[in-house]
Amino acid sequence: MLNVLIFAAAVVSPVPPSEQPVAPYVQSNANADATTFAGTGMWQAFHEQAGVNRIVDDFVDHNIADPVIGDIFAGQDIVRLRRVLKAQFCYILGGGCAYSGRDMKTAHKDLGVQAKDMNILVANLQKAMAKENVPFFAQNRFLSKLAPMRHDIVTR
Ligand code: HEM
Repeated sequence: MLNVLIFAAAVVSPVPPSEQPVAPYVQSNANADATTFAGTGMWQAFHEQAGVNRIVDDFVDHNIADPVIGDIFAGQDIVRLRRVLKAQFCYILGGGCAYSGRDMKTAHKDLGVQAKDMNILVANLQKAMAKENVPFFAQNRFLSKLAPMRHDIVTR
């Protein structure tokens, strides 16, 4: 019985009241599609959770307002996007969070993202990291972790 309850809790992730439901998925850190940096150096370089929150909010704001990729974000659940991106960045940077979102292939499968869209999004992330004064070497280490995700995100 306990096993059944634990399994159900993992598959039917609770939806916070301000968010729209998504198709059920199994919550797992593996969904982040990147491994965690060892140690606390990267987490500190990003100014821990407060810095990650500022970076994600600024990054998402730029993506929504972007003249080229803004349309891809229109009508999406931005409250959820901010929440799970913060968890994903925290998990990757060694902040000790559990990643709560879907894997990259599932999350982006219907969006029709092109290589040029990915480049614009990375530039927006670079602007957000620079605004937070994340050292350049740490920005590049983080971007190197995200780069392989391109294969799951760019679909045309
Ligand atoms: C390395 C680059 C990227 C990372 C790390 C990333 C990460 C994420 C994450 C964590 C989610 C939320 C998953 C969930 O809701 O469970 C997501 C959703 C989304 N991403 Fe990305 N993403 C990347 C690239 C892109 C690009 C290039 C675009 C479009 C230009 C994009 C557009 C979106 C949109 C619109 C959603 C919301 C989809 C939905 O709610 O159904 N992402 N992304």
